Amino acid sequence: MEIEKLESWYNKNRRELPFRLFKDPYRIWVSEIMLQQTQVDTVLPYYDRFLKVYPSVVELAQTSEETLHKMVEGLGYYRRFGNMLLAAREIVEKHGGKFPNTYDEIRALPGIGKYTAGAILSIAYNQPYSALDGNVIRVLSRYLGIQGDMRQEKNRKHLDTINQSLIEKAHPEIYTQAVMELGALVCKPTKPFCAECPLRETCFAFAHQAVEDYPEISKTKAKRILHFVTFILRKDGQLLLKKREENLLKGMYLYPQLEADHLEEALNAMERTGVRLSISRHRGIVKHVFSHQTWVMDVYEAEVLKGMPEGCILVSDQAFEKLPMAVAHKKIVM
Ligand code: ADE
Repeated sequence: MEIEKLESWYNKNRRELPFRLFKDPYRIWVSEIMLQQTQVDTVLPYYDRFLKVYPSVVELAQTSEETLHKMVEGLGYYRRFGNMLLAAREIVEKHGGKFPNTYDEIRALPGIGKYTAGAILSIAYNQPYSALDGNVIRVLSRYLGIQGDMRQEKNRKHLDTINQSLIEKAHPEIYTQAVMELGALVCKPTKPFCAECPLRETCFAFAHQAVEDYPEISKTKAKRILHFVTFILRKDGQLLLKKREENLLKGMYLYPQLEADHLEEALNAMERTGVRLSISRHRGIVKHVFSHQTWVMDVYEAEVLKGMPEGCILVSDQAFEKLPMAVAHKKIVM
């Protein structure tokens, strides 16, 4: 690969992003966790706020999971932040608050896989460790004409090995971000700007007029559609909320809801657990799309007349403001 062309393209064309201002591994780590499955534009306001409140791993380690979840409310995939908090505490306890600087120590932290370890080591420490993300997969598979379904681990592993050998011949800190940046700005999934690409003269897919045929990615299964009856419920002037234990949205708060096709079915299920409601208003149907499922929620306002729905807590309107809410439910009341 023409690594010098790529790196000099990056030096001229890179975006000024807040996580490119400092080589602080803590800041790089926070950016890489936030950027997982999340667009740069979405991350930016969260990133700035986060670093004001948690300027170093020490402040982060001292926060509560609930405060942290509130801080990142809306970013989705909340498990990454639960792991981040565990990692911060581990860095304080095991490494005296100093971010570790070897692959094995970094990789051993909760929530840090091969990609994130590679990104931190290359970007913050300028060490040659591959960081293979979706952008890098796209750039390399096109440039080298590498076939195979990239949902399959063995095909990604093959690209990771190639990326490792490339970074060993490059300036690690520049190379990692240059490939990502090329993928984000030029070598885009559809209608890439090949005319502006520093690698086009030696790009396999460009030469074969097959740029959009790479990378090969098999279709995912259709999303599951779940129907809920969702209740904005009050009892003695307080709101009822339930903290999510399931993996999807773990740690976030939701209004009580039941998987049911219509109100009557939901009310019957409540009755069976000794709970009686009085419906005061129908709010209508709200849809929320997750990566693997879609929720269709039929929303009602109601009062609890008898009993208490399982697992719910009562909160005042004031306390409600501080709790991290699932966006799927936040948008019910917007
Ligand atoms: N996505 C993940 N890490 C990134 C980085 N350092 N620059 C741009 N996009 C990214």
